[in-house]
Amino acid sequence: MGSFMGTQGAFQENLCAYENGNSGTAMTSLFDSLPRANEPLEEGAVILRGFATAEAPALVEEVARITQAAPFRHLVTPGGYTMSVAMTNCGRVGWVSDRTGYRYSPVDPATGASWPAMPEKFLDLAVGAAAGAGFTNYNPDACLVNRYVGGAKLSLHQDRDEKDAWAPIVSVSIGLPAVFLWGGRRRSDPVRRLIVESGDIVVWGGPARFVYHGVAPLKDGQHPLTGEARINLTFRKVF
Ligand code: SIN
Ligand code: FE2
Repeated sequence: MGSFMGTQGAFQENLCAYENGNSGTAMTSLFDSLPRANEPLEEGAVILRGFATAEAPALVEEVARITQAAPFRHLVTPGGYTMSVAMTNCGRVGWVSDRTGYRYSPVDPATGASWPAMPEKFLDLAVGAAAGAGFTNYNPDACLVNRYVGGAKLSLHQDRDEKDAWAPIVSVSIGLPAVFLWGGRRRSDPVRRLIVESGDIVVWGGPARFVYHGVAPLKDGQHPLTGEARINLTFRKVF
């Protein structure tokens, strides 16, 4: 995959910095940019480290295109709480929430128009990541786009509004790092705190499909690709 080339490129750049005799700091950056190993979480779940790093700038451009037609908005939960994460969608259907409940809608309730089509680049990336996690023939029909700024969070939840209970969730991180919360099958199970960085993809499906997960409040920061934000693309097979 191109993303692997991307990590290698960064690795070589830093080797040069190291060889140029810039010992102390170069040692640190060499270490920091070593390709990070993929991280199996449990059967059916893995973090593919840096899988989308090379494509990330192009993904950000696609998000800008999507939000021209379907702007980010803060949805209201059935309980009346306004979510801190701003959301939009692309694909055949999009995930929405209001006082009446959570659901997938073929149109953007804000405009009545169809959601923007899923860009080819998104689909290729999601299919590649799913395959990398052992899920072949992935065919997502929805992509939720989440935007977090400092303080925004997503409480522990299961993704359970999809008809397909086996196909994986493919969750791509772009921009600022976040603490991804990885729990168990019950809300009360212990929760692991995993740092996800720009380019990392978490994939969970099959036996891990209904694991509780979330995102801890985002720390303020600045990222060259996304400024003050973290963007997350979450692919789902709904139907
Ligand atoms: C989600 O669970 O929909 C998003 C997770 C994330 O932002 O990493
Ligand atoms: Fe989720």
